[in-house]
Amino acid sequence: MAELYDDIGVGYRDRRRPDPRVAAAIVRALEGTDSVVNAGAGAGSYEPADRFVVAVEPAMTMIRQRRAGSAAVLQAVAADLPFRDDGFAAALAILTIHHWPDKARGLDELARVARCRVVVVTWDPSISGFWLADDYPPEILENDRKIFPTIDDYRRAFGRIDVCPMVIPHDCVDGFLGAYWRRPHAYLDAGVRGAISTFAKLPPRSVESGVERLRRDLDDGTWARRHGHLLDRTEIDLGYRIVVAAKL
Ligand SMILES: C[S@@+](CC[C@H](N)C(=O)[O-])C[C@H]1O[C@@H](n2cnc3c(N)ncnc32)[C@H](O)[C@@H]1O
Repeated sequence: MAELYDDIGVGYRDRRRPDPRVAAAIVRALEGTDSVVNAGAGAGSYEPADRFVVAVEPAMTMIRQRRAGSAAVLQAVAADLPFRDDGFAAALAILTIHHWPDKARGLDELARVARCRVVVVTWDPSISGFWLADDYPPEILENDRKIFPTIDDYRRAFGRIDVCPMVIPHDCVDGFLGAYWRRPHAYLDAGVRGAISTFAKLPPRSVESGVERLRRDLDDGTWARRHGHLLDRTEIDLGYRIVVAAKL
């Protein structure tokens, strides 16, 4: 999977900018922790600047996009974190675990290196109802359901957990899959899709037919008839979750 991001990660930093409201939710989850390891750190979005942070990221394309002055980064994978037990107050993993080839081992590693807390931003595969993933094309939901751990998987790995919805504002600055839920035309843009790994994992023919159908449904009013009610909303719960495990 590191190879995937060496490939699709080009230009990631420009499209996947941290959203301040999402950032505030993550900082709240990390409250009271003075050191953090950020596994699958990518270009460094959402790393708190007010405490000691070390980033772990396998893809050099992503490492190169980290801003000057951001936290130190090690090129490594989550399944084999090069740190001692309890080496950090908190371990953080944001929208990355679905990419890990050995998820159970990666989760064990997060728990091993975190003294107080593990914070994971993920998507709950039991939740559906996002118009894009359901229809444009339906393989999005099918595929994501196969690769995202269930909430029970986190319970098995960490024991007791708190799970909070991470609602998505209508003008989300970040560019992950659900970010443009109220801006459907955005998904017609190959640049937008290029910064979303879901599209890279599907057969190009499925993506093309989904995009073409979306274009048609937007042009002839079908999308507006089915989903136009969303245009009145300012935020939505699409199943993104912040999972917090306190280590006792
Ligand atoms: C969607 S990006 C998220 C990056 C960052 N956490 C963010 O929120 O912007 C997923 C990241 O997970 C990384 N990744 C893939 N496989 C990994 C693994 N086995 N261990 C750690 N990170 C991995 C990818 O290289 C990529 O940078």
